Amino acid sequence: MRPDATAGSASFNEAELLRRAREVRSRAYVPYSGFRVGAVVVTADGQWFEGVNVENASYRLTSCAEQTAITRMVAEGGRSEIVAVATVGDGTDPCTPCGACRQTIFEFGPDAVVYASGDGGKPLIVTMSELLPHAFGPKRLSQGYET
Ligand code: THU
Repeated sequence: MRPDATAGSASFNEAELLRRAREVRSRAYVPYSGFRVGAVVVTADGQWFEGVNVENASYRLTSCAEQTAITRMVAEGGRSEIVAVATVGDGTDPCTPCGACRQTIFEFGPDAVVYASGDGGKPLIVTMSELLPHAFGPKRLSQGYET
């Protein structure tokens, strides 16, 4: 892991980004799964937005940490491109974003780098195109459906 990464115009410290995601994880509301996730998204203009998973008794209304962070970003007026996302889940393995979260990240950060971690070992560092190849997104929609 490089100490400082530059993506777009934003420069951020990767270890600090993961540390922040691990720290916010403690605020997760997880009475059903007990599996806490913390996420931080970094925008091209250098802002950081935090999120945690928020579960619900109906189960299916659960909001993932990445989703919460992005909803917060938009609600707070952040609209510059997402350049990086860190997710830290409980357990030892890297907590990679679920399929729905990949699509949500893609909407605002098609070229984002994702830092996925748990509490053990090295983080997994992958690009959105690796996580969601041949994605359907806003660009495709604005260009129409013909190939
Ligand atoms: N979860 C996330 O917050 N992000 C992911 O990308 C994977 C799953 C949450 C949802 C649920 O509260 C818990 O982890 C167990 O699935």
